[in-house]
Amino acid sequence: MEVLVLPTPAEVARRAAEVVVDGLVGAGRPEPVLGLATGSSPLGLYAELANAVAAGRLDLTHARGFALDEYVGLTPGHPQSYREVLLREVCAPLGLPPERLHVPDGSGVDEAALVAGAAAYERLLEGAGGVDVQILGIGANGHLGFNEPGSALSSRTRVKRLSDRTRADNARFFDGTEEVPTHCVTQGLGTVLDARRLLLVASGVAKAEAVAAALEGPLSASCPASVLQWHADAVAVLDEDAARLLRNRHYYDASAAGLAERHTRSSKAW
Ligand code: F6R
Repeated sequence: MEVLVLPTPAEVARRAAEVVVDGLVGAGRPEPVLGLATGSSPLGLYAELANAVAAGRLDLTHARGFALDEYVGLTPGHPQSYREVLLREVCAPLGLPPERLHVPDGSGVDEAALVAGAAAYERLLEGAGGVDVQILGIGANGHLGFNEPGSALSSRTRVKRLSDRTRADNARFFDGTEEVPTHCVTQGLGTVLDARRLLLVASGVAKAEAVAAALEGPLSASCPASVLQWHADAVAVLDEDAARLLRNRHYYDASAAGLAERHTRSSKAW
């Protein structure tokens, strides 16, 4: 795992965008697949990717985007449904055609319909050849996607109950906690691990404990984001506040400096 600590959230966004561009271009696929997270963490990164598109360094016209998760039970077109958020934050500014955006189906009227929709999403993802770069945020409780603590490390896309903590954290997007759906459909941790590259972005002191547990704690369902440690190409891009509880900071900085030197010499982007 590579851990890159930058002074500010703006620098986190810029560096993370380089990691995404490098991963998508490096995949060399005619229809690369970008895994999309929602929430606050990736917003700066999406803005930087929009700059890369405008500068001609990235073209998502033939790409596909696959969302990590979706709420269950919101009315179609609800502004806080993740489909609508991604249409606003990704499709429009980055030029990803809306019909190439895929989001788990949270509209099923009963459990059987939701389960069938989740299985169909897995098939769609597989048919697209899997995710080249998966963008990830982390919950303050260590969740990844909406895999709450206790989620099976090998889980696939399925219906999950949201924890009270997550509903309270996400109440800022709704008119209070009561309005936040109780359930979601989320890619499983096994699904996330199938992506060829994982990119975690985190900023702010509220994420420091979860980041330390994920990157340096035991690999454990109690901290779902700790599955990053299991992946062969995982990159965490953090600001100083999110990184403040990391014990091995000196090593990460030394490794990152060495990498930057090596990549400059070989004229790679990062
Ligand atoms: C969103 C998602 C979640 C968020 C996490 C952090 O698609 O899957 O895991 O990444 O809840 O949210 P923010 O970035 O709003 O702090």
